[in-house]
Amino acid sequence: MNLFILTGAGISAESGLGTFRDREGLWRRFDPMRLATPEAFAADPDEVHAFYNLRRQGVVAARPNAAHEALARLESELAARGDDLFLCTQNVDDLHERAGSGSVTHMHGKILKSRCTACLDTRENRDDLVTEEPCPACRRTGTLRPDIVWFGEMPMHLDRIGAALDRADLFVAIGTSGAVYPAAGFVAQARRNGIRTLELNLEPSDNAGSFDDADYGPAGTIVPAFVNDICRRGAQK
Ligand code: OAD
Repeated sequence: MNLFILTGAGISAESGLGTFRDREGLWRRFDPMRLATPEAFAADPDEVHAFYNLRRQGVVAARPNAAHEALARLESELAARGDDLFLCTQNVDDLHERAGSGSVTHMHGKILKSRCTACLDTRENRDDLVTEEPCPACRRTGTLRPDIVWFGEMPMHLDRIGAALDRADLFVAIGTSGAVYPAAGFVAQARRNGIRTLELNLEPSDNAGSFDDADYGPAGTIVPAFVNDICRRGAQK
């Protein structure tokens, strides 16, 4: 079995990290065009840094929940029986890794990394970013930003993701609203490839009609149940 799993902000909600489009979501309270675009960063880097510094602090303080842990267990169970899991996340947090997932593709980048817009140096960074801080590599100031994807920018690793989707025989989307492309289009690609598609979410997403099957509830409950089901079926093979 080649399993492709796409995760979104909903999987980290029970770890205390806010989602974007739920009633109290970040993009209901803040304008993403003023905070999450290259133009916003050019216009007011201090405001953009202040927003992402708070989010970074939240990620550092958060702990993985039962859904992250279940996916880490699934990775090792599948590997033990010669099957494969491609875990693709839109999340910029590191909760999958801290739960024990060994291979995670971050299509929207990582908030715990910085990138220099001048020399393109990237490195681990858990600290606040400020405009006056020089790039540790080229020493220019005003060039450091979070190594994440903003609106209007190309998501990362799309070739690898497309290839994994094309060899998958089951596609599962967890905790994502289906509002942001290209990730929102993965279910359509999976369907074109003729594979089964499953949505695990708190409530039906924008894309709900495109999935063959669905289970609705908090990720911390329904993801472990899904993983138990896959593992039980494997044991019966
Ligand atoms: P959204 O906030 O758009 O959607 C989160 C989804 O998670 C919603 O469908 C919720 O119903 C669901 N949800 C909330 N709590 C949940 C829980 N406890 N268990 C299961 N599901 C739950 O977040 P994304 O779809 O991840 O991009 O958003 C996609 C992208 O838009 C993000 O990666 C971000 C944002 O702009 C960038 O930052 C580049």
